[in-house]
Amino acid sequence: MTETVFANAKIITEDTVLHGTMKIVDGVIAAIDSGAGVPPGAIDCEGDYIAPGLIELHTDNLERHLSPRPRVSWPKRAAVLGHDRELAGSGITTVFDALRVGSEADQKRKGYEKYARETADNILDLMRQRALKVSHYIHLRAELCTDTLVEELHEFSPNDRVGLVSLMDHTPGQRQFRDTEKLRVYLMGKHGYDDAGVEAHFTRLKELQSLYLDKHRAATVAYAKEVGAVLASHDDTTAEDVSASAFEGVTVAEFPTTSKAATACRAHGQYIVMGAPNIIRGGSHSGNVAAHDLANNGLLDILSSDYVPASLLNAAVTLGMLMEDMAAGIRKVTAVPADAAGFDDRGRIAPEKRADLVRFAVHEGLPMISSVWVGGARVA
Ligand SMILES: [Fe+2]
Repeated sequence: MTETVFANAKIITEDTVLHGTMKIVDGVIAAIDSGAGVPPGAIDCEGDYIAPGLIELHTDNLERHLSPRPRVSWPKRAAVLGHDRELAGSGITTVFDALRVGSEADQKRKGYEKYARETADNILDLMRQRALKVSHYIHLRAELCTDTLVEELHEFSPNDRVGLVSLMDHTPGQRQFRDTEKLRVYLMGKHGYDDAGVEAHFTRLKELQSLYLDKHRAATVAYAKEVGAVLASHDDTTAEDVSASAFEGVTVAEFPTTSKAATACRAHGQYIVMGAPNIIRGGSHSGNVAAHDLANNGLLDILSSDYVPASLLNAAVTLGMLMEDMAAGIRKVTAVPADAAGFDDRGRIAPEKRADLVRFAVHEGLPMISSVWVGGARVA
């Protein structure tokens, strides 16, 4: 039996912050008690916070490791390891790695090469070898208006830890990219398109949408049911988008782009996910609704680090301080995503839950992580 006691800690439980001690036995939380004392043999947390390990439902951070610079590709195995350690150091102890499925048959579209299956093989293989620090699941992001979506989806079976499937349509002029100017700037910066290149690209994408959208949406909804994955919408913009998603069985709404859509998500009982970078930057990089405004109106349930892992704890602490309720801020990155993804063994500091934990202090509004544990074992 291994036993660890954390003492003199501000323990963030589901609904309060309790100054006291916590006992971990064999990787599981055994007891929580209030009181400032430090028993012999206990780890003195010096008044730092201890929160549950963070649960991240949608990160494409791995893409940055797979392609650390435009047109530079990195070996997949090395990329997965780098990404995993970055997550551990950011306090993320459970992650759904967002992998896009759906490419173009000719593989010419920049940034849309096929990569999901091979990348997942590396993640799953490294997990089997116990080489990864945090708990990884697969989030298949179905890019609906693409040639190869259906065949790429079916390369994944129920044994591939596919926990989430999201329905994406990034055709310009709607949803995330109602403002096509922002998309133009993004494409020029990320993929080196010129103006004529962007125009030709937009025309082609609209053709793909008319070919595939309806057919591929239905196929993806059916696939998610088949593998038992939680279904998520992505960038829903109108109340009609949301009722269509709800009808298809969507329970998680990623990044609704307007308050109208978020209000409709609430009415349909969907979990509303917003980007943590949006909180940190004070707005959306695509010019859509600000996460702060949704939070103020009670329309933000879950934060996702999206493309910056360190933003997750940072944004949760920022919201916790704004609401003067640290437990409420931290819930959005722990207990609520646990519920949305169907976990009952993690996401809360309570007896019998996994000892996935983050110790941090807050200096000038910024969380400073000092240590992270997964199942009671220190990982960062
Ligand atoms: Fe999007």
